[in-house]
Amino acid sequence: MGRYREAIDHVHTGAQYHRIFMSSKRDVAVRDRFQRMALGLLGNGDEILDFGAGTGIDAKAYAARGHRTFVYEPADSMREYLEIHCRDEIAGGRVIALEARLGCKVQAVTANFAVLNHFADHVALFEQLAGVVGEGGFVLASMLNPYYLGDARYGWWRRNLLALVRHGRYTFDTASGVHRFAPGVVARAAAPHFRLERMAPRGLGMVASLYMFLLFRRV
Ligand SMILES: C[S@@+](CC[C@H](N)C(=O)[O-])C[C@H]1O[C@@H](n2cnc3c(N)ncnc32)[C@H](O)[C@@H]1O
Repeated sequence: MGRYREAIDHVHTGAQYHRIFMSSKRDVAVRDRFQRMALGLLGNGDEILDFGAGTGIDAKAYAARGHRTFVYEPADSMREYLEIHCRDEIAGGRVIALEARLGCKVQAVTANFAVLNHFADHVALFEQLAGVVGEGGFVLASMLNPYYLGDARYGWWRRNLLALVRHGRYTFDTASGVHRFAPGVVARAAAPHFRLERMAPRGLGMVASLYMFLLFRRV
């Protein structure tokens, strides 16, 4: 079981998720890098959609930097805790919770900590996001890195290696199963609306990192 699955499998409420992810130094450091990358790409006052916003950790940080942040989060318990964590921002209109429809127009969409790994396929999602992100805007996603060598000690990683090499993706056959993708597979799903502009880490750094950041530019 990898670190992500260990964490997620023991989470039953938004409050538990929040506590676990905020108390892990490693996750806090990765989140910090992701937020800095997103903020560095935004212009003054640009608006964001945090897709799969969880408990609103990132939304609160973006709102504090002057970016009105729409949040979409399908899980009730996550949303309930988000409403507590971002209470002041919601009251002040700096964080806006969306219901089932992504009814906003923004400069950027962020999807931090493996949100896109919950999708078996991204074609329909990127089509939908194309209607949300303005020209020149971007989608920044942090996804589980299928090449992470830290996972090589697990049987499931070795069992799925051939599928990864052949098809660029594989799926876990468990209740909490998440899908893993090679970056090229996500890039193909994002086209023609978005093009993969940047990926971090690259080269040898790729095998040492549980998460990979993918930046897609609206074309
Ligand atoms: C590991 S959590 C990350 C939450 C948050 N982005 C963060 O950085 O803490 C993954 C999130 O993806 C959300 N998610 C799962 N399926 C989704 C879907 N189809 N659309 C949007 N979000 C989804 C989950 O509800 C969960 O909040």
